[in-house]
Amino acid sequence: MSATSISKALTPPDIAARKGAAPIVCLTAYTTPISRIVDRHCDLILVGDSVGMVLHGLASTVGVTLEMMILHGQAVRRGAERALVVVDLPFGSYEASPEQAFSSAARVMAETNCAAVKLEGGEAMAETVRFLTRRGIPVMAHVGLTPQAVNTFGGYKVQGRGASAERVAADARAVAEAGAFSVVLEKITDTLARTITQQISAPTIGIGASAACDGQILVIDDVLGLFDDFRPKFVKRYAEFGRDADAAIAAYAADVRERKFPAAEHVFGDGPQRRGT
Ligand code: KIV
Repeated sequence: MSATSISKALTPPDIAARKGAAPIVCLTAYTTPISRIVDRHCDLILVGDSVGMVLHGLASTVGVTLEMMILHGQAVRRGAERALVVVDLPFGSYEASPEQAFSSAARVMAETNCAAVKLEGGEAMAETVRFLTRRGIPVMAHVGLTPQAVNTFGGYKVQGRGASAERVAADARAVAEAGAFSVVLEKITDTLARTITQQISAPTIGIGASAACDGQILVIDDVLGLFDDFRPKFVKRYAEFGRDADAAIAAYAADVRERKFPAAEHVFGDGPQRRGT
């Protein structure tokens, strides 16, 4: 299936129907220009709460607000035509009760025009996933390493090794049975991700999980190589934008200091105004 052969926007049921079929291609995006590019190649765009760390310099996703998600959700939605846009519910906006989750999710959907939300958590969130999906809110679930719980985990450690594997599998089963249209599996072992993918009827979307998952997701800035100091094992860099940006900005700074920029072609003459002059 090529990106150009599809004209209408993908929906949560379209993604759910891809279980066991062609891999579901997902990336995060936070801005309109990047959303336009991602939309040309991917099936699903996640406006991840990773935006807090990636664009706003926060130390974790814990400080991300609903307002930040709505602002970036609107920007991404403007750039997307074909891909399904999913917006993360941030920490503190959904955990207290299914009703709190409904009011946050409804606000995100109404104000961004996205078609689904994502929330973190397994068995503890199953009731909330059921509550939302029965009320017209498609939910992408997220189990394994759930970054909003970094303080509980004590860091960004691989989850589900040894005896804890069954807990992660039970989490995935619980949210899938509650109606999640897909389940993100983050930073768990390859074996466990394969087992979960076989056990649940919803497509699994891996990040630091397994090639056997029904789809894959990465953070766009990791794919583009924007960070020098952050190179997790599960990320494959497809470009070196950080290095290229550093070289470009250094060249600009040198040109300005040496009065090489602006050059004759960048300044306006005194003659009659013509187009572009
Ligand atoms: O916030 C995010 O970017 C995510 C993905 C890494 C799955 O949750």
